[in-house]
Amino acid sequence: MSNHLLSVQDLNIFFKSDKNLTPIHAVRDLSFSIDQGEMLGVVGESGSGKSITNLAIMGLLPETAIVSAKEFVFNKNALLELKDTTWQKIRGGEISMIFQDPMSALNPFLSVEFQMIETIKAHKGLSKKEARELSLDLLDQVGIASPKERLSSFPFELSGGMAQRVMIAMAISSDPKLLIADEPTTALDVTIQKQILTLLKSLQNKKNMSIILVTHDLGVIGEFSEKVQVMYAGEVVEAGKTEEIINAPQHPYTSALLNSRPGAVIRKAKTILPSISGIVPSFNQRPQGCQFHPRCNFTQSDCINQKISLLNGCRCIHPLTNGVNL
Ligand SMILES: Nc1ncnc2c1ncn2[C@@H]1O[C@H](COP(=O)(O)OP(=O)(O)O)[C@@H](O)[C@H]1O
Ligand code: SF4
Ligand SMILES: [Mg+2]
Repeated sequence: MSNHLLSVQDLNIFFKSDKNLTPIHAVRDLSFSIDQGEMLGVVGESGSGKSITNLAIMGLLPETAIVSAKEFVFNKNALLELKDTTWQKIRGGEISMIFQDPMSALNPFLSVEFQMIETIKAHKGLSKKEARELSLDLLDQVGIASPKERLSSFPFELSGGMAQRVMIAMAISSDPKLLIADEPTTALDVTIQKQILTLLKSLQNKKNMSIILVTHDLGVIGEFSEKVQVMYAGEVVEAGKTEEIINAPQHPYTSALLNSRPGAVIRKAKTILPSISGIVPSFNQRPQGCQFHPRCNFTQSDCINQKISLLNGCRCIHPLTNGVNL
């Protein structure tokens, strides 16, 4: 068993569909690891399997999901073999999660105080008074001014950014080893996005916490995470050090993602068009060979007739060099 905090090897997630159809293969042979205190950025278009991977880590996939893995270990716990009692300790305890829309994650009818105290009591076994004190301290840690006032607020009285800070305060209340932030800023204004990401980064460093940061913006990952994994159609297509990948993407999809960013001004010759044409293939109409080939500008005949493996962090048999494939 490895010493990583989270170690995932050959994770496969299927969803049972109607009786006559074969199950949908939504995540394929996914392997990655995270060490204590490390941030992993995960990027990819909608439908690439980012959220279901996170749900698998939290043990929250629906009954219709079939999960298998060679290794799927968090903090020495084999996640696919966990008993419910252990899950209760891990989920919302050692692993916490924040979501895209903080407003819908909060109960609109209950005060921030009530929601925070209930969450804290559930995981820490503190008295109400102690839980209240910890709530104030946590609100302060996540940069909320006048914590006392905010504690008595109801969700509708909070801005989106403030609501996300409250969610982060609740998520870190159990001192998680791993925080999963699944598109935590997608619902927020651009200026607020940066503040929230900066907050997450500072909590990562201060608490030596690991973070999985999911976003569809590779630029955000470039700014906040040293390590990145690019996903496409349920597979990792490129993974490694963010700086290297952003400076010299090898996979045509990564290159296209970079070029499709609003701020991307330098487009190299023969790279893919700014907006990536086509859509992620539906899971019951998978193309043969490379999953990206119907949308790739560099497809050759050998891309279509074989399964493409991840080699040196890139799942492409004609990788790019300086934005051009040779
Ligand atoms: N409950 C479900 N039942 C069947 N298929 C699902 C379910 N949830 C997700 N999927 C499949 O998994 C794919 C990946 O979903 P998801 O992880 O949510 O993508 P992402 O977060 O990258 O946008 C979806 O496109 C869908 O085909
Ligand atoms: S394997 Fe071929 S089709 Fe797939 S990304 Fe590489 S060049 Fe494009
Ligand atoms: Mg998602």
